[in-house]
Amino acid sequence: MSQLNFLITAGPTQEPIDPVRYLSNYSSGKMGYALARAARIKGHRVILISGPTALSKPKGVKSIDVITAREMYSAVMKNYRKADIIIKVAAVADYRPQNVSKSKIKKTKKNLNLKLVCNPDILKELGKKKRKNQVLVGFAAETSGGFKNAFKKLKEKNCDWIVLNQVGKKGTGFGSDFNKVILLARNGMGLGLKKGRKTDLASKIINIIIGLYPLLKS
Ligand code: CTP
Repeated sequence: MSQLNFLITAGPTQEPIDPVRYLSNYSSGKMGYALARAARIKGHRVILISGPTALSKPKGVKSIDVITAREMYSAVMKNYRKADIIIKVAAVADYRPQNVSKSKIKKTKKNLNLKLVCNPDILKELGKKKRKNQVLVGFAAETSGGFKNAFKKLKEKNCDWIVLNQVGKKGTGFGSDFNKVILLARNGMGLGLKKGRKTDLASKIINIIIGLYPLLKS
């Protein structure tokens, strides 16, 4: 297999509220970084667009750091054209505060209402824009109704694959070194991978996606 161009997004995004606070989620970036490392080790070119994480960058990977969903959107839109395989692992914040206070919000009232507005859906936009020979892989973080929700996302966002990631359970998912995932393809095929280290699962996921790449891109 010749060298492929991967674009991988990882980690959470942070949406500022004021100079000292933000909205975010529990994503550690471990799964996305493991996928970037695995693709690189297999000899492919990788661009990693990452929200804030505590991880060190995989060697040989071009990395672009972002903080907010809108920054991630711009970085992805600048870099997606050349990619053969795009994997959107990032846990993008769906909403951001409508107004960001320039100074620290003081504790003057008993209740505080924050108005949130919707962030762009990066994966959905990629699904609209993708070339015929680009393979688009989404991740679905689900706490319940996994299959149904993941399959709906796969269709609505025009992905080739969606990786169902059961989050909210102890020992797998956000923050853990372990995960248990199911790969769902457009034709309804499902491939379950047993619970394992994210590093091992990443290598398997990259092998499956690359192995079926010639089929999917034709
Ligand atoms: N995603 C994205 N941009 C967003 C939200 C999600 O690109 N604003 C991508 C994620 O990177 C992931 C996929 O969409 O690949 C599914 O994300 P997930 O958080 O599971 O679902 P949502 O689409 O946000 O829907 P919901 O929160 O209702 O489950």
